[in-house]
Amino acid sequence: MYQETIPWEVNYSREEIPPYSLPPLMNCLNGAPVKTQQDWIKKRRPELLALFRKWMYGEFPILPDKTKYTLISEKRDARAGTAIRREIRLVFRMNNGKSHSAVMLLYLPASASVNNKVPVFVGLTFGGNHVVTDEADVKITGLAGKWDKTKYAPGAQILRFPIDTILKRGYALAVASCNDFFPDFSDGWGTSIFRLFYPEDELKSRLKDRTAIGAWAWGVSRLMDCLETIPEIDSSKAACFGHSRLGKASLWAGANDERFKLVCVNDSGCGGAALSRRLYGETLYSMFVKHNIGKYWLNDSTEAVAKTPSRLPVDQHELIALVAPRRVSVHSATEDQWADPTSEYLAAFCAGSAFRLFGKEPLESGTPPPPDTAVGSDVSYFMRTGKHNILLPDWIHYMDKADEIFRQ
Ligand code: GCU
Repeated sequence: MYQETIPWEVNYSREEIPPYSLPPLMNCLNGAPVKTQQDWIKKRRPELLALFRKWMYGEFPILPDKTKYTLISEKRDARAGTAIRREIRLVFRMNNGKSHSAVMLLYLPASASVNNKVPVFVGLTFGGNHVVTDEADVKITGLAGKWDKTKYAPGAQILRFPIDTILKRGYALAVASCNDFFPDFSDGWGTSIFRLFYPEDELKSRLKDRTAIGAWAWGVSRLMDCLETIPEIDSSKAACFGHSRLGKASLWAGANDERFKLVCVNDSGCGGAALSRRLYGETLYSMFVKHNIGKYWLNDSTEAVAKTPSRLPVDQHELIALVAPRRVSVHSATEDQWADPTSEYLAAFCAGSAFRLFGKEPLESGTPPPPDTAVGSDVSYFMRTGKHNILLPDWIHYMDKADEIFRQ
């Protein structure tokens, strides 16, 4: 009953967390136990995906009828000769005559070639492509409309994207602005990818079966489609990543799209890796009541039960489990209590049985490790000392986990 009356005020006291129990991961909705890999692949995985679509993120949008990739620029001696840099426009067209586009910024190590294909990290940026670099000739993207142009000035987020380190370790990096897929505002519908699928008058407010997180995750998959056409990329070795709201999107992309062999989920919190039933830090309720973000990041079914998350038929350990038998890496930051690091860890831990079913290694301990101490392999966890952010130590851990599967 406690959950009927949760306040929107944030709870930061462990003692005040009401008792909760999680929906059983290894039982189908009809109660049947999941005993074999086939049970998981044929029954439980489709069932869980359908539940997350219905209850949280909406339908995963369909593919465009046609997609065209146009090279906008190429610089073969970028970053003092260490990188090949490309900007590519992705144009999505529907047979109904509608179109929508996004711009991908791609960095390849200078040594990458058809005969020396490289693995890739792919994800979205806040702001646009230009925030990740101080190279003045990178196109400003994602900022049409009402964005704070100072906050998202060129190079504003270079600390979040240690491009030179990523390239030195032999990885390509592909990014695009989240705003190219869904402008990060509650009234972003009309200029989002959803205009491909809906008439203008239906795009004035929230769509029943669609969400911004769904659009962002779809965007990550569309970047992957494009990367599959890049001769220097080994598309069988792709990792998706995202921080914060884009960490939620990375997890949803990785749950749906099995091309991502490693799913990096950074400080994603509520609606991401954190358990909805653990009422500490941000809650689904606060996403709808205190902040308006729930209204477009998540769907109306989530809103209906936000106050009583025990009524959700799923919880986020099951979303992490959808990455099995691939790899997932969940990150937190010590000062990011809003995202509830303990909850992010527990969800990753509780996803374990799905990975074990495939002979993969889940997290061993039910207790989070100390800060700055990486644990796990197929399911891994790392809590950086510091604030809500994605920084070099996060990338080092993600690349360490990628090396273990991509460089054998
Ligand atoms: C807010 C929001 C979080 C989100 C974060 C971000 O803090 O409440 O859910 O993860 O913004 O995306 O930066």
